[in-house]
Amino acid sequence: MAKVVELLLTAEIFNRNPSLVEDDIPKEIRKVFYSNGSLTRPLVVKENMVKSYVSYDEKELRKLPFIDINNFNRQIKITSFELAVKWLAKNGVELIKKNPVLAYYYESYDSLDVSYVEAKRFSKPKHSDAEWLRNVIDELSKNEETAEMLSLVRITSPEEIEDSLSSVVLEDSQLMEIRKIEVAMEEREWLKEIGLKEVGKLLFVGPPGTGKTTTARALSKELSLPLLEVKLSMITSQFLGETSKNIEKVFEIAKRLNPCILFIDEFDYVAKTRTSDEHAAVKRAVNTLLKSIDEISLVEDGVLLIAATNHPSLLDSAVWRRFDKIIEFPEPSESVRRRIFEISLEKIPGNYSIDRLVEMTEGFTGAEVKLVVREAVLSALLNGKKELSMENLVRAVEEVRDRLNLKNSY
Ligand SMILES: Nc1ncnc2c1ncn2[C@@H]1O[C@H](COP(=O)(O)OP(=O)(O)OP(=O)(O)O)[C@@H](O)[C@H]1O
Ligand SMILES: [Mg+2]
Repeated sequence: MAKVVELLLTAEIFNRNPSLVEDDIPKEIRKVFYSNGSLTRPLVVKENMVKSYVSYDEKELRKLPFIDINNFNRQIKITSFELAVKWLAKNGVELIKKNPVLAYYYESYDSLDVSYVEAKRFSKPKHSDAEWLRNVIDELSKNEETAEMLSLVRITSPEEIEDSLSSVVLEDSQLMEIRKIEVAMEEREWLKEIGLKEVGKLLFVGPPGTGKTTTARALSKELSLPLLEVKLSMITSQFLGETSKNIEKVFEIAKRLNPCILFIDEFDYVAKTRTSDEHAAVKRAVNTLLKSIDEISLVEDGVLLIAATNHPSLLDSAVWRRFDKIIEFPEPSESVRRRIFEISLEKIPGNYSIDRLVEMTEGFTGAEVKLVVREAVLSALLNGKKELSMENLVRAVEEVRDRLNLKNSY
């Protein structure tokens, strides 16, 4: 019953205090309101909404002297705010502690040791909710202009991302750069105050399969920021001026969805077309890209820009110097390959030597190391085995190496 009263009081206190914002409402309660439309004051609570939050016994609920259930529209209301407040103070302190809206109110309530700041720590910001994002996208889809912008990018909520920073193996130097971005994001307001705006534009450089995309996704999860992905080849058009317009739209949608990560993959694509064909439209596209990068900022707009490329040599210096950080994703060192093997083999029983595997896979990327494990598991399964032998793995290494040689011979 305490959770029902929590929900009702959260709505009531939120309605009464204009200084409270959506982010103050705990995620599980926000979700209830998003899935019933948007979250706008005054919040009205209906029976079905309470049921999607917690199951309860209606008879028991009716016994509470401060609850009214309307038999026609099934709206549930608090009839005496004071009584409800008193009741929850007695029956739901644990809930209050983790609910910023409630903690905000109860902070000044006698004899209860709760704090708004403490409660905030338990509560993730709204832009990390899949429901919130879906709602924003729905709204943007209603307008023709913004709907078109949406069609150019792939948007993922951090909640839907599985890769975490602990599942991608990075060198210490890479991790340190990523830590810097995390703190910059946390201290955005302060950076703005001191006028430090040139942060938050990263260029990931490295061969295919070295973890660039995975790291961008893991960052989205880690920072609880929606991820907007776009491949430059996908928005390049043969029609005059179209590519430039698309680039502008992509940056515009990122600003509308802020805070978010804008991940631009195949970043060299536009530059590549420039070398093959010195067409005016291509030049214009490159210029638009440069201008868009200049005009977007983590500190001002809340957009973290990450671009990735396999062909850094194709980027000219005008592009290069617009990024405040270049993070290299080289072919993995021995210790990185070892960690990837360890993580990938963690749940797989068998008798094998990781030391030997690391030695044998010099020059393999992270993706190829994972491929070795996958191949080995499949061939073991083919023989009816749910454990790996060294032979399975050695053969898989050879197969993957053959593939590499085949690729390189063309
Ligand atoms: N350092 C790493 N740690 C863990 N997994 C890795 C690492 N590098 C690559 N992988 C794995 O390899 C696969 C491919 O990685 P990813 O897509 O991130 O590569 P990429 O650098 O973006 O490649 P591309 O340039 O082709 O886009 C993923 O399954 C990823 O988990
Ligand atoms: Mg990639």
